[in-house]
Amino acid sequence: MIAYFNGSFLRKEEISISPDDRGFLFSDGVYEVVRAYGGKPFKMAEHMDRLARSLRETRIDFPGVAELAVAGAKLIARNGLETADSILYFQITRGVAPRKHAFPDPPVPATVMVLISPAPSSVEMREKGVAAILVPEFRWSRCDIKAIGLLGSVLAVQQAKEKGAEEALFVRDGVVTEGTHTNVLAVFGGNILTHPLGNFILPGVTRGVVLDICRKTGIAYKEQAFRGEELNRASEIMITGTNKEITPIVRLDGRPVGTGAPGPVTRRLQAAYSELVRG
Ligand SMILES: Cc1ncc(COP(=O)(O)O)c(C=O)c1O
Repeated sequence: MIAYFNGSFLRKEEISISPDDRGFLFSDGVYEVVRAYGGKPFKMAEHMDRLARSLRETRIDFPGVAELAVAGAKLIARNGLETADSILYFQITRGVAPRKHAFPDPPVPATVMVLISPAPSSVEMREKGVAAILVPEFRWSRCDIKAIGLLGSVLAVQQAKEKGAEEALFVRDGVVTEGTHTNVLAVFGGNILTHPLGNFILPGVTRGVVLDICRKTGIAYKEQAFRGEELNRASEIMITGTNKEITPIVRLDGRPVGTGAPGPVTRRLQAAYSELVRG
């Protein structure tokens, strides 16, 4: 695959990253993931806005986000993926400097990378639904930043995998926040609830699209938190994300959710989402 690294297009295998890169040493960097459908990136502008915000919040100096979007689009063509579904991965770190915690002084150029790969199919998960578990939140308090330090998510999703589940949903002080790589929505008496934006969740682009669909189609929703134990009486639970799209959770902590099959609200949203991205 052809990738983009610090201003050049080259084969992914030719990328060489310094052991002194702050991304490698401190996870001092941010990232984005964009899915392209039939060669067209979906919601690129929204993802790039979030990337620019992550850079601002972490004070990483990289003014070239707009060029990165162009580089990403070029990678689709350069890799012959114009008619395929693909995943673009953008990463920017604070650059290469001797290992000291404080920002490099004088500043060094950011390390910038864009990778592309064919998109894995999410059809089966979307159709049949998946299992999830609840885990106590043990990440930091700036989950609104799409930071590359994902050890908390790695450990939680591994726990899920070892219990035969696909996703772990974090519970902070009793409240369900989000998944390791997804946002969470639950249906209570016909009303969708999802955790409000703030520093405890990533402002998911897919979450935004889904709430937009709700507004346009008259599906009732509230950005209101719910507790872990309340999920026992949710008729439907779904997770949303660039890769997972809208995936139903049909088992939670080993118990069926609702009827144990994807529910009607989830199906409606999936159909509308599919129309948007593939229609
Ligand atoms: C922690 C977290 N929450 C939510 C999401 C969903 O965000 P998006 O819909 O923008 O992919 C992600 C995506 O990777 C994530 O890592």
